[in-house]
Amino acid sequence: MLRPRAAVPVMVALVGAIMVACAYQIGDNPSNEPGAQDATTQDENGRAVAPGVVRERERTPSPTPLPRDSEGNVILPCNDILVPVDKEHRLPADCTPAELVALPAYAVNEPQYLTPQAADAFMVMAGEAEALGLEFYAASSYRSYWEQADIFASNVEQHGFEEASRRSAQAGHSEHQLGTTTDVVTPPTWSLSGFYGTPEAEWLANNAWRYGFIVSYPPDSEHITGYIYEPWHIRYVGPEVANAVHHSGLTLGEYLHAIWW
Ligand code: DAL
Ligand code: ZN
Repeated sequence: MLRPRAAVPVMVALVGAIMVACAYQIGDNPSNEPGAQDATTQDENGRAVAPGVVRERERTPSPTPLPRDSEGNVILPCNDILVPVDKEHRLPADCTPAELVALPAYAVNEPQYLTPQAADAFMVMAGEAEALGLEFYAASSYRSYWEQADIFASNVEQHGFEEASRRSAQAGHSEHQLGTTTDVVTPPTWSLSGFYGTPEAEWLANNAWRYGFIVSYPPDSEHITGYIYEPWHIRYVGPEVANAVHHSGLTLGEYLHAIWW
């Protein structure tokens, strides 16, 4: 059951989406607190599951709350591609993906590192989009905790804390630290701001889920996500979850929160 404080419309949309996906069950968390997750490496039939890929039905909710840092942020487990990383939930500073590979193509500011699954999916997506006349290039992909700290500090210097917080995550709070997230650009601007309103942005919003990616910060959602519309920022969650999220009408963060708690 979802925790009582979850909004009813969110529950309805989520349950519908999960029925569509036919693959996930909502876990029960008796403590109503964030539960430690059992990141198994085998599925229910004993088959190997790629490291970091944790399906909801394989989770074992635990009454043990996740730890919090001194500021009250929940510290998420490392190497679970479905963790809800946001302004209140963060990764440990030393959390790095189990494996990273450099994209062999469709990259600027090379090298661009992603986990193998995310990289494979990105290559397929960029290749199929290219055949349609659309150009996607990864411009900023895996970032360590410390790289993110530098980016946030630089944004604070340029824009001030409040504005920086709308555009970039603080260290530990960025989906880029997962190694499953990339920012894409397209010619002729090759810039993030130049990506708004492009055919590529529209195509990504409508089709990225088919390849396992979700635009994490959609339009008109800053009140939910805490971030401005970022049509370029896509996170790999796998095709099944991406399908469910896309058809749920929820933001990725709302969806992930609901399956965790
Ligand atoms: N721009 C997104 C929020 C990040 O910094 O991860
Ligand atoms: Zn991004």
